[in-house]
Amino acid sequence: MKPKILVTREVFDDVLGFLGEHFEVEANQGDAPFSADALAQRLAGKAGALTSIVDRIDGALLDRCPDLKAVCNIAVGYNNFDLAACTAHGVMATNTPGVLDDSTADFTWALILAAARRVTEAERYLRAGQWTGWKLKQFLGTDVHHATLGILGMGRIGQKVARRALGFDMPVLYHNRSRLPEAQERALNARYVSLDELLAQADILTVHTPYSPQTHHLVGAAEFARMKPGVVFIHASRGGVVDDAALVAALRSGRIGAAGLDVYEGEPRLDAELLKFDNVVLTPHIASSSEATRRNMAWLAARNLVAALRGEAPPNLLNP
Ligand code: DGY
Repeated sequence: MKPKILVTREVFDDVLGFLGEHFEVEANQGDAPFSADALAQRLAGKAGALTSIVDRIDGALLDRCPDLKAVCNIAVGYNNFDLAACTAHGVMATNTPGVLDDSTADFTWALILAAARRVTEAERYLRAGQWTGWKLKQFLGTDVHHATLGILGMGRIGQKVARRALGFDMPVLYHNRSRLPEAQERALNARYVSLDELLAQADILTVHTPYSPQTHHLVGAAEFARMKPGVVFIHASRGGVVDDAALVAALRSGRIGAAGLDVYEGEPRLDAELLKFDNVVLTPHIASSSEATRRNMAWLAARNLVAALRGEAPPNLLNP
């Protein structure tokens, strides 16, 4: 008999087909997230699950799912998992690192360019039929080339963002838990600085840290107050790393020149105030969402699940 698994959200048909070769699959093709209770009910009797970032896997849920052996996130972020609880319940947890770095870095640049050069604001104006002709002072933006780029969080994605900055002739400053080897810093033209210096020097500041209790509100009122007036602020990592109420206040005060945001505290709800700023580009958590990358993420998660339930070490095990 094949082990039973749950796929909590819609995935690609070929991935479902692959899973079907190995497992008896229950798939949520409706694609609306399950409530905590519905998720526990669906997971009862299942050996594994392909999960998304909105599926909270914690001790309370695991107590109700004694057959569960593996939860495999279709995401690099895994703050929806209580890893200690997974380990305590003998449940393997995996994520999808690596396959989304380039797409996420590309999208970060889309936000940087759109926010600094007022792309979406200008498009709204044009679509509204307001354009009456070329004007010298129309939609004056902030130059990206030669600006100082500050990167908060220099993991795989931060480094990909830095690599792309070379083409824009930008000095790059970064702050991270640990410093990169010198050769890597040279290759990226990136200089390690304190958080204070990063905040004070960056013309464009982009956040790339995962969410954890340690990074909760890493950027809040005090940090916004130390940023360069007119800074272009970009956030495409995880809601909760930035204090959105403080961000709104900093936008209102005019300290932030423009912002590009892909993630929000409490998403999909967002602070309604954010919608009022013309100088803010807002996207719905799609930084990794290219056709190829989302497929690669789903495939990697599926391979993790197959390996885990075969009793092999999954390639991206988080709790060995
Ligand atoms: C991730 O992989 O963590 C992304 O945020 C989901 O797209």
